[in-house]
Amino acid sequence: MNAAELIPLTARQSGPLLGRARVPGDKSISHRALILAALTVGETTISGLLEGDDVLHTADAMRALGALIERTADSTWRVYGVGVSGFAQPAGVLDFGNSGTGVRLAIGAVAGAPVTATFNGDESLRGRPMRRVLDPLEKMGAHVLEVAEEGRLPLTLQGASDPIPIIYEPPVPSAQLKSAVLLAGLAAPGETTVIEAEATRDHTERLLKHFGAKVTSKPYGDHGRRIVLQGQPELEPAPVIVPADPSSAAFPLVAALITPGSELILEAVMTNPLRAGLLTTLREMGAAIEPLETRNDGGEEVADLRVRTSMLKGVDVPPERAPSMIDEYPILAVAASFAEGVTRMRGLKELRVKESDRLAATADMLRSNGVTVEIENDDLIVRGKGRPAGGGEVKTHMDHRIAMSALVMGLACENAMRIDDSAFIATSFPGFVELMRSVGADFS
Ligand code: S3P
Repeated sequence: MNAAELIPLTARQSGPLLGRARVPGDKSISHRALILAALTVGETTISGLLEGDDVLHTADAMRALGALIERTADSTWRVYGVGVSGFAQPAGVLDFGNSGTGVRLAIGAVAGAPVTATFNGDESLRGRPMRRVLDPLEKMGAHVLEVAEEGRLPLTLQGASDPIPIIYEPPVPSAQLKSAVLLAGLAAPGETTVIEAEATRDHTERLLKHFGAKVTSKPYGDHGRRIVLQGQPELEPAPVIVPADPSSAAFPLVAALITPGSELILEAVMTNPLRAGLLTTLREMGAAIEPLETRNDGGEEVADLRVRTSMLKGVDVPPERAPSMIDEYPILAVAASFAEGVTRMRGLKELRVKESDRLAATADMLRSNGVTVEIENDDLIVRGKGRPAGGGEVKTHMDHRIAMSALVMGLACENAMRIDDSAFIATSFPGFVELMRSVGADFS
């Protein structure tokens, strides 16, 4: 995508949002399901796969590395894997578009295979740090043949022919970094260990077990985990059901909380505790969110969530909660703008290296719509005073979550709000505009 294709969109104050909706499949699980299925020997069916641009880039990359991948029905895909270390030499550059997860996980998988691959992405992805994954993978025996300045894309990696297992303590809490090391560790003999000071989403560990690998995960310190993977397993194909993405559900959920008279039921939302920080925080703010039916879908807990418009109050969000809601701060900041009182979100350093500098982009989004907001070191402080004026024009910086957060905010502000570009919403939430319209949102 480039600047010529900007698709602006306006959100206007809307009537109550009412009805039921099911958001698309989880992005994190969709990437992992494709990559791990490609490392099995045999045929895996994935249902509920997110068919967003980010995940489609990962599917293309796995094809280029030798897996056979076909779409057999809506959101249902079949993958014929090549086995651990079985990747073929790709013919061209692997393009991951806007997706940090896709590229970092694929770099990890390639690091454990005897092939050389070049990784690239769009302008947003080329601005994001890759050194954090390259450092441990070089220790495991991979060689970086070329890399852009400051450890950015494009980069060319030669995978290790005899990968070395390591014990690794990531310097930042990152599920992508943990997953890259574990994926490379699949090809290494013996045990690969990742020690996290703060636990991050555990979908890689769960899916590794699902496909037959031996992985243990034990508490470590106050908030951490010690994860140990036995290398060189033969991964067995197994069907995967992808639950609805809680990071996508967050948008209609907050829209219902702030749009007067709303009541929505969001179906089959994954409630994995390592992804549930937003629900915890919104409940502390006074949000009426009720699980109606809880169940287990493909190894993950899911629930239908009923959400009603609520009077919200400001809260203090502790830094240790950040990994469990890292993608939800822009939409939490929107909710905080409609609350009474101050919300302080602590420890948001990692937001500076997402699809955009999300700390700055979130603050700008709120400010241009009449909200008082400050950034103090790595904290975001929102001074809520009930309904903001709105009327702003929001720059989305190639960031899907800024785009959706601003559109949600526009539904409940006094004046219409415009975003400069809605194109990137398709990276994680294809059908967002239609889904929101179907429950009463006024977007045009
Ligand atoms: C993801 C991990 C998070 C998150 C991203 C998805 C994943 O990134 O922001 O959207 O699927 O592992 P980090 O691991 O860099 O924090």
